Amino acid sequence: MKKIAFLSQKGGSGKTTLVVHAAVAAHESGERVVVIDTDPQKSATVWGEARSQDEPIVATAAAADLPQVLVVAQQEQMTFAIVDTAPHAAPDAARIARAVDLVVIPCRPTAFDIAAVASAVDIVKAAGVPGVFVLSACPFRSPEIGETRIVLADYCLPIAPVEIIDRRAFARAVATGRAVTEFESDGKAAGEIRILWNWLKEQVQ
Ligand SMILES: Nc1ncnc2c1ncn2[C@@H]1O[C@H](COP(=O)(O)OP(=O)(O)OP(=O)(O)O)[C@@H](O)[C@H]1O
Ligand SMILES: [Mg+2]
Repeated sequence: MKKIAFLSQKGGSGKTTLVVHAAVAAHESGERVVVIDTDPQKSATVWGEARSQDEPIVATAAAADLPQVLVVAQQEQMTFAIVDTAPHAAPDAARIARAVDLVVIPCRPTAFDIAAVASAVDIVKAAGVPGVFVLSACPFRSPEIGETRIVLADYCLPIAPVEIIDRRAFARAVATGRAVTEFESDGKAAGEIRILWNWLKEQVQ
């Protein structure tokens, strides 16, 4: 079982949106997926409760219990565990980073978001775990996308080749317990998510 956590100290960077979308994309490609929601805000849990399907499974756990929950998921023959995390959770974030195979740091293409990635990168590097960036909620074709890529390149971590664009479909799908690949399967948002998932899967193999 491969374990991927989405982590950033910045609230609203797109962690939960990417977690649920990665989980559904993985499930749709035939994986056995558990989402583990370690955020006390429980956004991913609420999404799971709004769903009409049982998969991916959504489990809620305190960050401190993550290692045990991962053991159970492995025993249940899950092939991917996708972990959502709380913003501003420094000691927990470090613990989570040490428990997974890959940390994904979502970053919106704004100055405040870019400034906030440094602490997530520090956590990833201290944990000795591979880390990657994903540009999330990007205004369509904005020059900030390229500028953000240049700034993030200084951290010497891979950056997902596909950007996730700011699209209403993402918010609408999540609000109704779905993912864009279920809500609008042939839409642009669904295409971005499939490319992202295939790339993330390569990063963790
Ligand atoms: N690609 C996108 N297109 C449109 N809206 C988006 C996109 N990504 C995120 N959002 C919206 O931005 C807001 C924050 O996203 P999300 O909840 O995924 O961030 P988060 O990092 O999990 O936040 P928190 O730190 O509070 O847990 C939500 O309202 C969500 O619907
Ligand atoms: Mg969240």
